[in-house]
Amino acid sequence: MKNLLALNWKMNKTPSEARSWAAELSERFEAGNAELVVMAPFVTISALAANLPAGVGLGAQDVSAHESGAYTGETSAAMLADLGVGYVVVGHSERREYHGETDAEVAAKAKLVQANGLVPIVCVGEKLDVREKGQQVASTLAQLSGSLEGVGADVVVAYEPVWAIGTGKTATAVAAEELAAAIRSALETRYGKKASDIRILYGGSVKPDNIASICAKPNVNGALVGGASLKVPDVLGMNEALKDI
Ligand code: 13P
Repeated sequence: MKNLLALNWKMNKTPSEARSWAAELSERFEAGNAELVVMAPFVTISALAANLPAGVGLGAQDVSAHESGAYTGETSAAMLADLGVGYVVVGHSERREYHGETDAEVAAKAKLVQANGLVPIVCVGEKLDVREKGQQVASTLAQLSGSLEGVGADVVVAYEPVWAIGTGKTATAVAAEELAAAIRSALETRYGKKASDIRILYGGSVKPDNIASICAKPNVNGALVGGASLKVPDVLGMNEALKDI
């Protein structure tokens, strides 16, 4: 299965900055073994669409849980589909933490994303206190179960331990694989044989120098990257590091 390198810019880069980033990437990017996708802020998606090199896809970081209508400030899955977006992150820990998103809302968003022909990247992962109690597997699987309620198998799951996001503390490859294997097994229970085609990403302080060891693990099929997605040399480095995996 091709690794997915999903670049989550979070709330960074204006449309002009996105154009410059895409131009810089285009100068040196060579499609490798990984599939690349940029999860851009809504307002920069169009700027990117016109400037990304071939082989790099478009993504979004969130979507409305409603189909359409009187929801001021929201962006629908149909709007994202119309822009050429392929993947949509749902349930990122920052949205769960700062916007109170529940598993049920995450599942509603994922279903609408699929209904519009796009692929949701459903995020799960434990906080530090949960890991310190050794409850990371049970906690993450409970979150996964609620977030996938009624969601089809055409999905990507991102395991992002909250304590590793933006902190420079990466889970070891062994710890990432422990959770990825547990997630795979839960996906098998839910989706049967289709589970072997579902990509499970790791996220949390991924960089050019640690991505290969994590993605080499059997149940890890790519990475969801925040900080290191902003600089083109880091993106090229991660793309290169995935070449032999
Ligand atoms: P960092 O790579 O900056 O730790 O962020 C991870 C993340 O939250 C990606 O969605």
